[in-house]
Amino acid sequence: MIVLSPEWTAVLYLIAAVCFILALKGLSSPKTARRGNLLGAFGAVLAMVVVFLSTELDNIALILGVIALGTVIAVPASRLVKMTQMPQLVALFNGVGGGAAALVALLELPLVADELGAVIAVAFTVLVGAVSFSGSAITFAKLQELMPTRPIVFPGAPVVISLVALGSLASAVWLVLTADATASYVLLALGTALGVLIVLPVGGADVPIVISLLNAFTGLTVAASGLVLGNTLLLVAGTLVGASGTILTRAMASAMGRSVAGILFGAFRGGSTAGSTAQSDRPVRSSSAEDVAILLGYAQRVIVVPGYGLAVAQAQHTMAELASTLEAKGIEVVFGIHPVAGRMPGHMNVLLAEANVPYEVLSEMDEVNPQFKNADVALVVGANDVVNPAAKTTPGSPIYGMPILDVAAARQVVFLKRSMRPGFAGIENDLLFEPQTTLLFGDAKDSLTKVLTAVKNL
Ligand code: TAP
Repeated sequence: MIVLSPEWTAVLYLIAAVCFILALKGLSSPKTARRGNLLGAFGAVLAMVVVFLSTELDNIALILGVIALGTVIAVPASRLVKMTQMPQLVALFNGVGGGAAALVALLELPLVADELGAVIAVAFTVLVGAVSFSGSAITFAKLQELMPTRPIVFPGAPVVISLVALGSLASAVWLVLTADATASYVLLALGTALGVLIVLPVGGADVPIVISLLNAFTGLTVAASGLVLGNTLLLVAGTLVGASGTILTRAMASAMGRSVAGILFGAFRGGSTAGSTAQSDRPVRSSSAEDVAILLGYAQRVIVVPGYGLAVAQAQHTMAELASTLEAKGIEVVFGIHPVAGRMPGHMNVLLAEANVPYEVLSEMDEVNPQFKNADVALVVGANDVVNPAAKTTPGSPIYGMPILDVAAARQVVFLKRSMRPGFAGIENDLLFEPQTTLLFGDAKDSLTKVLTAVKNL
């Protein structure tokens, strides 16, 4: 039953599109992110309702059943997922979106077979949607540690990838020229294989960049399926996702000193990054929570460098309390935020916002780096790669070229970590062995709790 006229449908789609644009604007700052997210969700629900009210739909019971099933799976998945597992959840949702767009295009093919423009859009949607689906499934499996996170390269991989890529292009041309259903199935199969082959050689540290890139691919796929279906809102939403995903991919790659092409074509030079989890047995200076409390308690300026370990230990509240206790003693405390600390963009900002650390004491890398030389203590809490001087000094290192936080310039450096295991990139950090460095071993939350108690007792 059609309730909405085409004019009203267009107006409501326009409102949904404005919601998506305002959602992106809101998501650009932690202060407004929650509101942005809600606006985006509202736009998506509005768009779905409009489809029901403006189109003559068959199989309504089946559609509602599938929506209910998706809701039953997605709501607990989103609520139960840990913050550190967010990248793989995004990968999963994103891959499903790309796969869905490819399937919709396959179904629409017979209806648009005599419109060349629409068939080109179908070929694009099937190919890129299939790459996005299977590539995202592999990134999910890597980050969830269902398969090895290291680059997987087999003998002859470059030749196989090239052949599958050429085969995909050839079937896309076949599909465009004939609008033949068989061509679309061959394209779907080759696209799926290509997604797997491209992502297998990507190493752990680069996986989130690939997730962001595949996200951009899904956006483009959705935009193309908007062309196939003649739906302006899909076109707008897909373009927004494609554009923002591309910007995010470039920003993440440059913050990690990587090139997107280098990551994507990793198989052609033996994998994108190679990491190890071997522990070093070189001697280090370790100390007690009481000693660290004395260092902090008698400092004038402290720069805290949070990293992935702070998130793993869920120590943000204890960290925030330690910072305010030190400030109450007249000590200046600043948080130095590296753009790729943690495992997703803005990870540290989200974590510290959760513990109500004021935005004013969070300093971005360029702003905080000149301050390290005047800092008495750099307190590195669960960070490693983002402070590793190898990024500047060791050509050939997987992180060479990545801008780092210059903690080595501080008078004293204190690392809070559990062991001598390396960080995500799997490489040793020479700063751990420098004379001005002290290590406090243990889970960051336990260590910070002990340091906090000792600082209060000073
Ligand atoms: P990492 O280099 O991964 O180091 C994390 C440190 O935390 C390790 O030294 C680990 O040592 C310690 N740790 C882990 N759990 C802990 C716990 N419960 N208590 C105390 N310490 C703990 O982290 P980072 O410095 O934040 O660097 C981020 C890395 O991820 C970079 O390589 C970056 O390129 C990569 N990456 C980031 C992103 C984004 S967008 N943020 C995306 C992709 C990749 P122990 O095991 O000895 O405790």
